[in-house]
Amino acid sequence: MLRKLFLLFFVFLLVACGEVEDTRPGRPVAHRQAAFRAMLKSFEPMGIQLREKTYRAETFRQHAEKLAELKDAPWDHFGADTQYPPSKSDDRLWREPERFAAERDAFIRAVEALRLAAQDAPEEAEQAVERLKAAYAPVEAGCRDCHKRYKR
Ligand code: HEC
Repeated sequence: MLRKLFLLFFVFLLVACGEVEDTRPGRPVAHRQAAFRAMLKSFEPMGIQLREKTYRAETFRQHAEKLAELKDAPWDHFGADTQYPPSKSDDRLWREPERFAAERDAFIRAVEALRLAAQDAPEEAEQAVERLKAAYAPVEAGCRDCHKRYKR
């Protein structure tokens, strides 16, 4: 009896948390999602440093470098016929490839500009933060605007 209950509970858990797994050849959806999650890991700590006045030049620079390294990773995984569960992309993305590409390219340029701004940012927060906020904002807008239009 207890075992049956346990099994039922387990099945329930699976269904409740049930992310569909990407099992197609090459796993393009899983790859692009992982690439975005990796970007988030360096993008977010920079925002925290700027908002919460915890700026540290060295770690900020490392995050900016890392984000620049990762900025090209998701895009090749948006091929034709890659819109299937667990994709959270909007169908619109494949209907307007040129606009999507333009948003992607603007984002890539913003990330590179942030990397350069971080590279020679002063060590002192008072001098660095406003300047870095100005460079961070277009990157943030890039994530947000693209998600608004192309992510469900
Ligand atoms: C040019 C468009 C575009 C830009 C720029 C962009 N994203 Fe996304 N992002 C998407 C799309 C489309 C998806 C949905 C992918 C899918 O599931 O098919 C997504 C998904 C995600 C996800 C969810 C991944 C998952 O596990 O399902 C995260 C997190 C994410 N993006 C973070 C970011 C961050 C952080 C930035 C900016 C630093 C960013 N994205 C910039 C288009 C973009």
